[in-house]
Amino acid sequence: MESTPSKIGRTITAIAIILILLIGSVGYLAWYNLFREVDTYYESVEDHFKYGSIGSENAEGVPYWIWLVLPRIFPDKLPKPGGYTSLGITWEEGQELPVGFSKKIIGFPRQGITCALCHSATYRQTPKDKPTIVPGGPSNKFHLQGYIRFLGDCATDPRFNADYILDEISYNYDLSLFDKLLYRFIIIPRTRKELLELKETFAWMEERPDQGPGRIAPFNPVKFRVLGLPVDDTIGNSDMMSIWNQNQHEGFALHWDGLETSLTETVNTGAIGDGATKESINIQGLKRVEDYIRQLPPPKYPYTIDQGLAAKGSQIFESNCASCHAFGGERTGTVIPIDEIGTDRYRLDMWTQAAADAYNEFAEGYDWDFDQLRKTNGYVAVALDGLWLRAPYLHNGSVPYLTDLLEIPEQRTMVFYRGYDVYNPEKVGFVAEGVAAEKEGFKYDTRVTANSNQGHVYGTELAAEDKLALIEYLKTL
Ligand code: HEC
Ligand code: HEC
Repeated sequence: MESTPSKIGRTITAIAIILILLIGSVGYLAWYNLFREVDTYYESVEDHFKYGSIGSENAEGVPYWIWLVLPRIFPDKLPKPGGYTSLGITWEEGQELPVGFSKKIIGFPRQGITCALCHSATYRQTPKDKPTIVPGGPSNKFHLQGYIRFLGDCATDPRFNADYILDEISYNYDLSLFDKLLYRFIIIPRTRKELLELKETFAWMEERPDQGPGRIAPFNPVKFRVLGLPVDDTIGNSDMMSIWNQNQHEGFALHWDGLETSLTETVNTGAIGDGATKESINIQGLKRVEDYIRQLPPPKYPYTIDQGLAAKGSQIFESNCASCHAFGGERTGTVIPIDEIGTDRYRLDMWTQAAADAYNEFAEGYDWDFDQLRKTNGYVAVALDGLWLRAPYLHNGSVPYLTDLLEIPEQRTMVFYRGYDVYNPEKVGFVAEGVAAEKEGFKYDTRVTANSNQGHVYGTELAAEDKLALIEYLKTL
């Protein structure tokens, strides 16, 4: 029988349908395995703070299984044994992820970072103790620069290939045959490329003094990578900040130099700085973080306090410090001009009017748009809540102990080690000298550019016994 036009038509239609179905299922398969998004919801707001996605997985999330096995393939590229903990990352018992990491499925599981990576502190009473984790405190040991270097170095190594990586993953997880192909031909090569790009975009870091643990250059990555401003020669190395008790901070300028005045914007710029994009930023999840840090109380000093001495100290505080540091103080939460405060000015000069303008333009048209970034001329007289856990002190973390801050700069510790989290209740701060601190810590030399411990000489002329009383009071904050 001869084919009639209608028969041909039917055949074409059938082929077309089959083709559409085929393309459709390939498309679906591709979508399912590469783009489908599944987020984890944490009932507890503290867990959400520690592990909940802020939207940083899409653009910068390393595929989870690869991320997990890298320290096992490349222990030689880490500063010490111990995997990621050697970079100051903390695992809570019973948790899949370390504090400050999220995991989200975008086709396949990807790892991201959360606010808690930099904004949760740890301390130990003795070297044998497990670290006590305090959410909202400044991390004094997470080494972001070391972490970025590690990822970049892994990607440059020839062992960063499917054979090594898939073999190592198989000890943790049975990937399906299809997944293995996906990892071998798409995910592993792409991750390698992305990590090499990461190394490239952070190359500016290597031309400046080391940040060390507990410190980052928070806005240079934003300036150069997010806002597209030309790479300049500024050094923005600054200490992590505590973010608890924000309701009491209402109206205070935010960040060390007060470059923000809105808490919501500070939270959302935090997520952009951590790798969330305009499309991926989890505004709802971040609102939950904001509500949490508004209410989160600062931690109480865990050692005994001589209450009588502290009461005497509170009067010394009243006459020497309260105008700038007490809640309700006339200048608390405002920017004190750099010429008056006299501390290191590099962090201040890192942020420019051009950067503020560009960031204010950045999210134009989004309902979470930024418009309160600004350029200031000094550092904020910060509230001192939870002060005991905020060592080392000042914006660049240049003063290891509170007792040191009450000495004139010439008598403050010139070289110390930071990143060791055993506490020193006598000096009020983390143990920053001695064999153990040297072994675990990063050598901080105050003579290095942007590390200066000059300035803030308030209280340095008090009598020794008044200093003792004042310190006792500061422990109560
Ligand atoms: C990679 C480390 C890092 C991560 C992750 C991070 N921050 Fe920060 N954050 C910092 C540093 C460092 C500062 C101080 C920066 C400066 O001004 O020099 C800061 C400052 C802040 C402040 C200002 C506090 C004050 O009293 O002025 C807030 C609020 C804040 N961060 C919230 C967040 C939130 C919310 C997130 C998560 C969305 C986040 N941060 C993620 C490092 C980080
Ligand atoms: C004129 C205002 C002013 C007075 C008075 C003042 N401070 Fe400060 N204080 C500041 C500023 C501004 C900063 C931030 C400086 C920096 O980090 O570069 C600061 C920082 C600090 C810090 C470090 C906080 C941290 O998280 O690292 C401590 C501790 C501190 N001051 C204690 C005191 C004590 C104690 C007194 C009284 C003896 C005092 N200050 C008097 C303005 C003041």
